[in-house]
Amino acid sequence: MLSQQTIETIKATVPVLQEHGEEITGRFYKLMFANHPELLNIFNHANQHKGRQQAALAQAVLAAAQNIDKLEAILPAVIQIAHKHRSLGVLPEHYPIVGKHLLLAIQDVLGELASKEIIQAWTEAYETIAQAFIQVEKGMYEESSRQPGGWEGFREFKVIRKIKESEVITSFYLQPADNGELASFEPGQYVSVKLEIPGQQYTHIRQYSLSDKPGTGYYRISVKREDGIDGKPDGVVSHYLHHSVQEGDILALSAPAGHFTMDRQSERPIVLISGGVGLTPMISMLNSLAASPNNRPTTFFIHAARNSSTHAMKEHVARLTAENDWLRSYVCYSRPTAEDRSNGLYDKDGNIDLPWLQSIVPGTDCDFYLCGPVPMLRTVYRALAEWGVAADRIHYECFGPDIALASE
Ligand code: HEM
Repeated sequence: MLSQQTIETIKATVPVLQEHGEEITGRFYKLMFANHPELLNIFNHANQHKGRQQAALAQAVLAAAQNIDKLEAILPAVIQIAHKHRSLGVLPEHYPIVGKHLLLAIQDVLGELASKEIIQAWTEAYETIAQAFIQVEKGMYEESSRQPGGWEGFREFKVIRKIKESEVITSFYLQPADNGELASFEPGQYVSVKLEIPGQQYTHIRQYSLSDKPGTGYYRISVKREDGIDGKPDGVVSHYLHHSVQEGDILALSAPAGHFTMDRQSERPIVLISGGVGLTPMISMLNSLAASPNNRPTTFFIHAARNSSTHAMKEHVARLTAENDWLRSYVCYSRPTAEDRSNGLYDKDGNIDLPWLQSIVPGTDCDFYLCGPVPMLRTVYRALAEWGVAADRIHYECFGPDIALASE
């Protein structure tokens, strides 16, 4: 239990941390990886380079600090992060390492401002926050190993099929190498894939949404090949998966995780809006709606791609749309090819915008699910908010570390 004095000290120092937030977390990672390079087996090196994880951690720490006397207010955010941590294999023994280096970084960056009292207050606050995460994650580890076909940590899966879905997206069909039972999942959830790539010093872990419905006897992930542009290198993991991993190979997976799932009870129309490879959780949701009794009157499947060459699974969605009168699908191409223009197999040029959404979707009383690159999510989220869609009707999943669109 934190004293009133500690709570006041923490709250009073939040603005100082806000000012130095990124500097502190940047320093923190530098110190932590210097002393514990083994943690580079867990953290995403690409996010480190882009500084995105720094921002995510800074925001989470500040949100927790602001609510230190009522952590239950940020429980939804804790659960969301805990899903990611559980999927990555973050364990209770990792927390003191993070705590120690976070405190050292605060001391380093704040210099004289970091009084003994402030450091003591943050030590206690971190312990409280860490315990909240550890407890939530403990429940998740227990649940994932308890469910039929579930497991803890990483399990070996065999690639039983590898299918090219577009110029840039390839699907991998995966079955347990031990031929054991396969845990079910909620459409919209993801798995972590852990890879040892020849020539790379550390293992790489990436999350991929499951792109087919549950109950098929396999898991499917559909991976976009990240080609380097503007001097940026190619994505190490996606290139390895596309070029080196073949049918018959083994991949290590952790059990499905994630909060981006459909409300099964709702009877409102559902609007699935995706950009690029963001269609993967949407296809899982769509296939699941098509496979089971569906209490939604209408499903809108709205997808934005660059053009037909990068547009994955288009024949599949077109077939489902033709077969099911509850399903309407729409496509928007930002850069249609001349051939796309002449055959007209898409609905809109350019990007998704509010007038177009309003011409498709009958009103705001729907459940909206969004997945795609951050700029697209931002645009669509703002459009929906401007239209008057309630925040609790908009669910989204970003690529990379999560961002809080509602508070932007
Ligand atoms: C991801 C916060 C402790 C490892 C994240 C994210 C946040 C966060 C906000 C981004 C979530 C998302 O992308 O959806 C925190 C807080 C912690 C904490 C507030 C302490 C109270 C830890 C510990 C470890 C860890 C102890 C393990 C050493 C990771 C990793 C990621 C992550 C590997 C994935 C992002 C990446 O690889 O760049 N954490 N975390 N975290 N966290 Fe934590």
